[in-house]
Parts: sequence; structure tokens; C-alpha cells
Amino acid sequence: MRDGIDIEFREVGMRDGLQNVDGFFPTEAKIAWMKAEIATGMPAIEVCSFVPPKLIPQFKDAVEVVEAAHATDTGDCIISALIPNMKGAERGVELGMEKLNFVASVSETHNLSNVRRKPEESIEDFRRIVEMRDALPVDKQFVIDGGLSTVFGCTMEGNVAPAATVKLAQQFIEAGADHLTVCDTVGYANPRQVRDMFRLLQSELGSGVTMTAHFHDTRGMGLANMEAALDAGIRSFDACLAGLGGCPWAPGATGNMVMEDGVFMAEAMGLRTGIDLDALCGIRELIETNLPDARLSGAIAKAGVPKGYAPATQFAVAAE
Ligand code: COA
Ligand code: ZN
Repeated sequence: MRDGIDIEFREVGMRDGLQNVDGFFPTEAKIAWMKAEIATGMPAIEVCSFVPPKLIPQFKDAVEVVEAAHATDTGDCIISALIPNMKGAERGVELGMEKLNFVASVSETHNLSNVRRKPEESIEDFRRIVEMRDALPVDKQFVIDGGLSTVFGCTMEGNVAPAATVKLAQQFIEAGADHLTVCDTVGYANPRQVRDMFRLLQSELGSGVTMTAHFHDTRGMGLANMEAALDAGIRSFDACLAGLGGCPWAPGATGNMVMEDGVFMAEAMGLRTGIDLDALCGIRELIETNLPDARLSGAIAKAGVPKGYAPATQFAVAAE
């Protein structure tokens, strides 16, 4: 985690959000969104997926978006992209990505539906990607995140055994993952389950393994689950501006935890996010303009912050 913050948010709206909306979000608007998020102080942004454009046309402009990121002063903001396979990793290397986020599901049915592979086949792909990465010159090597989908349940399989999550997590770590992202892909999790799952993973994997929590707010549990994960010691969270999001291959999946509300909650509880909440709320207009039919979620954007609210992050005031 970078200096000066206590909790690290990653904006996943440009990927998880846009993969599930109807219609193409214009490239210039994606780039404007990314630049505006960087300007809020956002520590990390997942800007796109390297998937076949035929499958998800929304990401047919991934190259332009990534090139725009490289041409921008991103400061401390970590720019990453999602990959489902080796081809995605190769595209990431060609574009000089600093970080790639691989994804596999604990639920076999979801993994087959999402990436057309059994989970063990995905792990095999992951192992080959790490080997490919390690053979690159050091300045071309990327950080690789192992993402576990459907950890807290699957709309097709129902309950998912915690032991199956532990096994996949161990396989990711043994294969060389630098970090894990633990996902409630379809918004089934409750706070007790979240606390228990992260404690179980920590005890099975050891304290050296860092994890990001990725929640969907489908059943209104997003912020409660964030608090449960905080309680278990997690300090890294995915969220989407205006609560966009959802997996097109997980029936019934809807929006991610709302970024603005997560930032407010953290700041109000004394945890520094480094993010300017006002500026963040201001970006919703760009989403509204470009996605007129999307339903935007978010309590803070509607209600405003409480009177007397004092954020934990102190921004330097520009000299006159
Ligand atoms: N980027 C671009 N093209 C890719 C690609 C990638 N990452 N992976 C495969 N392709 C191309 C292949 O080159 C091939 O092209 P061709 O038909 O011109 O020869 C074609 O896609 C099929 O390749 P194949 O390896 O057989 O893939 P598949 O049809 O078995 O699909 C995935 C597997 C993983 C590519 C696909 O299921 C996928 O992208 N899933 C991701 C879904 C997703 O993003 N879900 C939401 C995030 S959780
Ligand atoms: Zn998601």
C-alpha cells in the first residue's frame, strides 16, 4: 500500500461496470473517466479486460484506453487489466502493463460458463502465465493477481464450500500469484461469512498473503461486508463508481459495492483513502451522460455528507 493511506480502493467500474452495460461507452469518455478518477487520488484502477472483442465488444478499444493511461501522469495510481488466459497476458505484455488480474471461479459451473475451462485448467493456464512472466526481462515483468470468483456462492451451483476456496487460493499462491482478490461475484455474502472466510484464508495461507475484497451489492450487503472484511484485517477493496457492475456469465449478477459510499464509510471511520470524495461524486455526471439508461446507485451522492463530517484524509491546500 502506498504511503499516507490506511485503506486502498481500486476502481473496477471501467471493467466490471462496463462489461455489463448495454451499448458501447465511447472511448473518449472512458479515457475522461480514467483521468478524472486518477485526479481524485484513487490508488488503483482496473481499466479494461483483455478478452476477445467478439465476446465483449465493450473492450474492443482496450489498446486505446491503456495507451491513454500510459500517456497520462498516473502518479501513484496502479493501472491494471483483467485477463482470462495466456492470450490476455500476452496482450498485456505487448502493452507494457504493470499489473494483470487473472480470474478463475471456485464454482466449476461458473468457471465453465465464464472462461470455458474447469478451475484446474484455469490454474494450469495461470501457472504458464507466471512462467512466461518470469522468463521476461525484469523491466517487462508484471505483477500478477489471482482472482477467485463465486467464493461466497454461485447463482448456478448455490453454496460454495469454503474448503474449495482455500484449495484454489493455495493453488494460486503455489503457482506464483503475487496477491489474491476474493470475490462475491453475485452478491450472496453476509458479514459473518465474510469474516469467517477471510480468517480461514489467513490461517491457511499465512500472513504473508495479501488479499483484496470484491463485493457486489446485489442484496444490499456491500458495506456491511466491507466492515466485516475490515474487522478481519483486510485493507484493500474493489468498488465501482455509482455501483455499476456484474458478470454477464453469472445469471442475476448486479452492481458492485458503491465506491463513493465505501470511501465515505472509510473516511468517516478515520481510515485515510487518499481520495477526494467530492471530486469522486462529480464523476457520476460523466456516467449519466454516457449511460442514460443505467441505474446509478449511491447514498452519499444523493444525501450528501453529514453536517460536521470530517474526512480522515487531509489534502494539502494549494498555496495562493
Ligand atoms: N484476447 C483476445 N482474443 C482472444 C483471447 C484474449 N484474451 N483469448 C482468446 N482469444 C481469441 C483466440 O485467438 C481465438 O481467435 P480466432 O477464433 O480468431 O482463432 C478465439 O478468441 C477463441 O480462442 P479460445 O482460446 O478457443 O477461447 P474460447 O472460445 O475457449 O474462450 C475465453 C475462452 C477465456 C477467451 C473466453 O471465455 C473469455 O474471454 N472469457 C472472459 C469472460 C469475462 O470477461 N467475464 C467477465 C469477467 S469475470
Ligand atoms: Zn465483480
